[in-house]
Formats: sequence, C-alpha cells, structure tokens
Amino acid sequence: MKVSVLQFEPRLLDKAYNLMRITDLLSSLKTDLVVMPELCTSGYVFSTKEEVYSIAEVSGKGEAFLALSNIATKNNCSIVYGYPEVDGDKLYNSSMLIMPDGDYHNYRKTHLFNREKLFFSPGDTGFQVFTTPAGVKIGMMICFDWQFPEAARTLALSGAQIICHPTNLVLPWCQAAMKIRSLENRVFTITSNRIGTETNAGVTISFTGASQVLNTKGELLANLPVNKEGIATAEINPLEANDKTITERNDAFKDRRPELYRL
Ligand code: ACM
Repeated sequence: MKVSVLQFEPRLLDKAYNLMRITDLLSSLKTDLVVMPELCTSGYVFSTKEEVYSIAEVSGKGEAFLALSNIATKNNCSIVYGYPEVDGDKLYNSSMLIMPDGDYHNYRKTHLFNREKLFFSPGDTGFQVFTTPAGVKIGMMICFDWQFPEAARTLALSGAQIICHPTNLVLPWCQAAMKIRSLENRVFTITSNRIGTETNAGVTISFTGASQVLNTKGELLANLPVNKEGIATAEINPLEANDKTITERNDAFKDRRPELYRL
C-alpha cells in the first residue's frame, strides 16, 4: 500500500483557506492513507477559548469533516487530520480518521503540551486501533504524545500496524524519538508536522516541518524539508508490523516482562 504525509502552513482561524490548501495539495495524490498535521483546520496559537469554539467542530460533523470525507471517498483513501473538537462545553485537541467507505473514528489528545492546557481538556478516548476496509490496523496519537512511550506501546500491543501522528512540533527531539517508537514497537509511524510561524496576542511560535514516514526498524522511508509545503509518499507492506522477531531467540513483544515493570 501507499502511505503519504502532508505538510503545510495553516493560517490561524481561517478554516476556508486551510481546507482550500489541503484540497489543492491532495488533488492529484494517489495514495491509500494520508496523514496531515495537528490542528490543521484551525492553526495553533489561540489566545482565548472563544477563538477555539469559533472554529471547532463536533466529531463527525462540520465543514472540514464533510470536505475531507468527500475527498476520502473520491480518492478511495483513508485520511487522518488534526482539528479542534467541541463536545458540549468541552474542547479537545483531536484527530479524525476517515475511511474511504465513510466510516470514521476520533482520537482526543491525551498529553496536552504547554499552552494547550489553557484551552483544551485532556483526551479521554484512550489509544484505540481501527481497521480499514483493506484490513490495515491503524492507531492515532497526537504530537506531544511522543514523549510518553506508553502511547505508542499501547497502540502496538493493541495490534496497530501503522501509527498516524499529526503534530505541530516546536521541540527538536520528536523526529528522532519516533525512530525509537517505530523500532521498539516494530510498527510503521507517519509523523505529519506543520511549518511556519504563528503570532497571536503577543505569543509567537515557530514549527519545525521535517515530516516523516518510518518503517518497523525505525528507518526513514520518506520525508519533507523543514520549511516547504508538500507531500511525501512511501510504499509499505503493513504485514511487516505483525512480525516482532528480533533474533531467533528474541521477540520484541513475547520477551516483555510486564511483571517486573512499573508503568
Ligand atoms: C505539541 O504537542 N503540539 C508540541
């Protein structure tokens, strides 16, 4: 199967522009799965909860969901994208997996980073694995979840073959850390980061691009530069993630000793 990572510079609080840019970038893409950045429909540097409410969507509803569902069906591919979710009076930093048959699944970011705690509630969905119509097992985690190895480990133990990882990265360590997450769990990972600098109400944050697709040994299959928009695609066999063999006497999962671990 073909998997792709999309990287661009969203405009803060401009959903129409962001959807137009995503649609443009996706227009000639032939792939089975594409992952986009965290909060890619809204931008990142919010200054009030009201701003977040103004652009948030209910899971499975709203302009961004409909536009991206249509593309998933038309292009016969699965799409993962990050968006601000509203549920009653709560806001979540969420990612949505839309399958080509219209089925969809939502993940709410578990580990909120820095100022996100001013606006969002910590996610309550846990780490679940979803199966595409083609039988591929997909898990999601969002950005700062990389810092907590339990996130990727839980997804891998639940059978994930591919971990889709929308990000808005500001720290420099994630791309290297994800090599370890791929390697220690023997899973493919797709980290989609945004680029550019955003300023709002005196707060300025720069994002670091370098989106990447890694194989089950932590090797780079495809990536993008630190400051350019685009899409990178790799051909993978997701079944490789079912093989946790390291040597004839070692298996990354069967050799675990959970009785001795403190988690
Ligand atoms: C982050 O979690 N957006 C750094």
